[in-house]
Amino acid sequence: MNEFSENPSFQHHFRRSPDWLYLLREFYKLYRFSSAGGSANIRSHQKEVRHRLSRLLKLSPAFHQPLASEKPVCAHLSRALDLGLSHPTAPLARAIERIRDQLHWEFGYGKLPSGLGNRYAFSVLMGPRGPVVSEELILGLVLFAPGTTYPTHRHQGIAESYFCLSGSISENDVGVYVPGSLILNPPDHLHRITTSDHEPSLLAYAWVGPPEKLADQKMVFSRQRSK
Ligand SMILES: [Fe+2]
Repeated sequence: MNEFSENPSFQHHFRRSPDWLYLLREFYKLYRFSSAGGSANIRSHQKEVRHRLSRLLKLSPAFHQPLASEKPVCAHLSRALDLGLSHPTAPLARAIERIRDQLHWEFGYGKLPSGLGNRYAFSVLMGPRGPVVSEELILGLVLFAPGTTYPTHRHQGIAESYFCLSGSISENDVGVYVPGSLILNPPDHLHRITTSDHEPSLLAYAWVGPPEKLADQKMVFSRQRSK
């Protein structure tokens, strides 16, 4: 088992919601056992995510039950999870399935491009405002309908990784990523995502950065084009 599994106080906070504990363990395993593809930068990011996760869980973080809410794109969630069950990342898809009725889906951006409100939403699992409270690591999910373009954006001072769990996506038109693939966006890197025309895509993401950046990250689309 992983390095935080023996902590009794950790179990205590999740005693009414053990499925959240199992979900976080699957996140940990994803960052522990997935390939870095020979990239030292990606290996270092994976290590940072799981170290922050295990360190936090040893401290027995607070857990606030989210206020469940859906967005239009959630009509695609069942299909995205079904697709996710036939890939190596299936244990995480299954763990998400167990808490799907508790997820709080949101848009995050003050102003969304036309049509994006029907095609995209994200749900935070861990972060400064919960549901699992952490000042040094944000974990979450992003769901895209088929044929979506998620416009160019960047994350100031934050390194972001996207793990593809279902469907297929491209970033900045330079590659196609399928379930099990990881994309690392270094701090301030401009990126734009497109999804395949026929299937929804579900991504798991992690944000790593200094607490002040994680607590106050403005979600705005960039006027600049990603390269
Ligand atoms: Fe991003």
